[in-house]
Amino acid sequence: MVNNSQLRHRKRNRKKYFFYTLLFLSFFQHATAQNLIVQTNKPGAPIQPTMWGIFFEDINLAADGGLYAELVKNRSFEFTNPLMGWTERSSVPGNGTVLVLNRSAEKPDNPRFIRVTHYADGPYTLSNEGFRGMGIKAGETYHFSVWDHATAPITLRLQLQSPDGRSIGAATLPLNPTGTWKKDTVSFTATTTDLHAHLSIGFEGQGAVDLDMISLFPDHTWKQRPGGLRADLVQLLADMHPGFIRFPGGCIVEGRDLANRYQWKKTVGKVEDRQLIINRWNTEFAHRPTPDYFQSFGLGFFEYFQLAEDIGAQPLPILNCGMACQFNTSEVVPIPDIDPYIQDALDLIEFANGDATTKWGGLRAAMGHPEPFHLKMMGVGNEQWGPQYVQRYRVFSKAIKAKYPGILLVNSTGPDPNGEKFDFLNDTLRKLHADILDEHYYRKPDWFLQNANRYDRYDRNGPAIFAGEYAAQSDKVVSVNNRNNWECALAEAAFMTGLERNADVVRMASYAPLFAHVDGWQWAPDLIWFDNLRSYGTPDYYVQKLFATNKGTAILPLTLNGSPLTGQEGLYGSATIDSATHEVIIKLVNAAAKPQTPTIRLEDLRRTTTPATVWTLTAASPDAVNSLDNPMAVSPNHTTLPIHGKNLTPTLAPYTFSVIRIKN
Ligand code: AHR
Repeated sequence: MVNNSQLRHRKRNRKKYFFYTLLFLSFFQHATAQNLIVQTNKPGAPIQPTMWGIFFEDINLAADGGLYAELVKNRSFEFTNPLMGWTERSSVPGNGTVLVLNRSAEKPDNPRFIRVTHYADGPYTLSNEGFRGMGIKAGETYHFSVWDHATAPITLRLQLQSPDGRSIGAATLPLNPTGTWKKDTVSFTATTTDLHAHLSIGFEGQGAVDLDMISLFPDHTWKQRPGGLRADLVQLLADMHPGFIRFPGGCIVEGRDLANRYQWKKTVGKVEDRQLIINRWNTEFAHRPTPDYFQSFGLGFFEYFQLAEDIGAQPLPILNCGMACQFNTSEVVPIPDIDPYIQDALDLIEFANGDATTKWGGLRAAMGHPEPFHLKMMGVGNEQWGPQYVQRYRVFSKAIKAKYPGILLVNSTGPDPNGEKFDFLNDTLRKLHADILDEHYYRKPDWFLQNANRYDRYDRNGPAIFAGEYAAQSDKVVSVNNRNNWECALAEAAFMTGLERNADVVRMASYAPLFAHVDGWQWAPDLIWFDNLRSYGTPDYYVQKLFATNKGTAILPLTLNGSPLTGQEGLYGSATIDSATHEVIIKLVNAAAKPQTPTIRLEDLRRTTTPATVWTLTAASPDAVNSLDNPMAVSPNHTTLPIHGKNLTPTLAPYTFSVIRIKN
């Protein structure tokens, strides 16, 4: 009997054997010669600054446990199980007790706190396990804070501990009884690096103390902001130079039901007043349950806008349109009750763009950002479909356009790039003159290769296209066997040449999802993987980065025998010009098993002696992946290429993506 894993192994081996045989045979083949022409004096449609962006969703521990650098899980005891993530330890039973209290009348958005009573001199501790442990770095300073109300002088003995209980950083924090709630803080330095540490809080003194918002952050966050974001993860995003950032999702916008939808107003203001809710991915997949997945909203809408500004990306918030996830409850709000949803959208524009004298602009200013965030576009619903969506889109659109005619709206075309749901919305929204249609495609690599010409057929005068979520799936959608392998990344690169070639229609594109914690994910593939201290970009990441950092400002015609390059002999390509640097940028994908040496004639190129710069991305096998231990296994390699007159002849190895920059 052969079990499933053996079958998969054999299949992988067969695939590898096939790939290596093709590579081997290719050495005995003559490289095919093609004559490509780039018309450098015929710039076409502009490439929008927004062309290549990023899609952020709190899935796979992307926010709490990921981008948001908080190390304490369930810091405010608002998880369904109020002590989830916390463990009580007492050397002798009866040294102390912990009681969960609720003060909902006083603090409706963060009602719970704990009362710790320490009775004896013996040790009594509470420890927090963090998000799959806490990533602690030797030499790094950690800032501990707590809201407390002590009725007796109690001292906290804080220790960061490795899994075997060794102390790797310690501090003492006296909590004096002042008759009121106050915030106390202490900072200390860790002595040892550990990926899976935990925080132990010991109590000294006799009496009771109330505690809430128990928090621990590293000093080193993105831009050194206290309570900020993980610097390594933001850096990976900044390095992509994304044109926009879509947030907060994804299905998380919709919620499993309407009560669980994303409500931006509950994610702004003081962190201790942001109302935590369950994360919809907590229970979504029976095969990847994540019972400790909640949304603290420490990373909320203010932080998303700030992140967008930091990395030079336009903000693209997506709002719930009165519909919960149609893969789950499909709840919809009746049209007569939809006003609060629309008001949320109008108020968000005021929050982002209004001046400090307005209600919501005033809140933004009070949060430390008096300048506007320059919001220009917004999504109405995520992956909705059917006539209910059109009905709701119409009322949203009417209200938003009446008050803010300059704001562009992004509309759903459903979860698939074809079929009945897609056709209905595509036809209807085009008739309604929608601004931007959001298309999603999670498909096999072949689909991406075959659809490199998808947008060649689109109406040039219709709505703009936003390729809002896409990723090649090595297995099938939501399969745990999906891998971020080179075969998928290469197929995406081929497809993206088609997006670029059609930049008059396609204005924005983003791979999805963005982040995944190696010990806490629900969905694969994902662009960037991380553990508690390290992170890496996948081959797909390097494809995205190469496109985004070599986008140019206008399309140039690139043809083979008068036709665009959409897979002839396995070659895909696009060309652009960068008006700022006077460079011609050519992107070529050789998806064939043989090397190819096309001659590229650059018509109207000025005489140049500067060789072209070439970035090449390739791998030894279609299954090649990057990993935490080998993060750059598949990453771009830099060379130069001579130009002969107006011609250049790159050698494109099998299964290669190349970006060539030529000074003009
Ligand atoms: O990217 C993961 C999920 O895929 C998104 O939440 C949803 O929009 C799509 O179905």
